[in-house]
Amino acid sequence: MSELLTINGLTKRFGGLAAVNAVSFSVAKGEVVGLLGPNGSGKTTVMNMISGHLPPTSGTIALGNETISGLLPNRIALKGVSRTFQLVRGLPSLTVAENVIAALAFGRRRLWGDTARLEALSRLDEVGLAHRANQLAQQLTYIDQKRMELARALALEPELLLLDEWLAGLNPTELRTGIELIDTIRKRGVTILMVEHVMDAIRALCSRCVVMNAGRKIADGPTAEALADREVITAYLGDAHA
Ligand SMILES: Nc1ncnc2c1ncn2[C@@H]1O[C@H](COP(=O)(O)OP(=O)(O)OP(=O)(O)O)[C@@H](O)[C@H]1O
Ligand SMILES: [Mg+2]
Repeated sequence: MSELLTINGLTKRFGGLAAVNAVSFSVAKGEVVGLLGPNGSGKTTVMNMISGHLPPTSGTIALGNETISGLLPNRIALKGVSRTFQLVRGLPSLTVAENVIAALAFGRRRLWGDTARLEALSRLDEVGLAHRANQLAQQLTYIDQKRMELARALALEPELLLLDEWLAGLNPTELRTGIELIDTIRKRGVTILMVEHVMDAIRALCSRCVVMNAGRKIADGPTAEALADREVITAYLGDAHA
């Protein structure tokens, strides 16, 4: 398999804290990889550096053969990387459809007008939100805000989709739907790196997992092996349970 994302020696310091410390891993085209680790282990910081929302202190990030570390978020998005945020973002005073249309305007095809509207509706349909197209984004429930955010990310036609706890807070029924939706996106050939705490989702979707603890990578391998790794179990449960 050819590598789509290659991360090498990635480091982010906040003052004296190495939130991400010399992390290297890669994601092959078409893979769905889980990025796991206890709270505060640096997962979101890695996502922020891949999407350009934070510049790395050192290390490199490449998409295919091209270095993307150091580029601004919109440049990286145009190269085919889009994401959802752990804390949902969006344009609250616009309608749901307008939110997706805004993403399309900045997307790779720079769609606007009727074409953009049709495309937005089809992205909303894909995430089960077409019936809310004309509501204001601020009126959406939490789950529907997450759906809208995924529709916005898909509107950018990503080659690499970054999901930061997209499934968090869903009830069991919504979770099943959410897992199926991510699987559908995968089947279309989108490569996915997902931060997730929901283990059922990890097992169902991720062929491989990278596990972090305190800024460092502690495991990287097929999901079952990574989850059974002694250091991973210790990191999650604490020394007393090891
Ligand atoms: N902008 C920032 N300024 C200072 N410290 C930060 C900043 N962002 C993150 N940190 C710190 O870096 C560390 C890693 O944070 P990060 O958000 O990447 O963790 P995470 O693995 O995503 O955790 P969670 O599972 O809780 O979302 C934490 O100690 C956090 O407090
Ligand atoms: Mg996080």
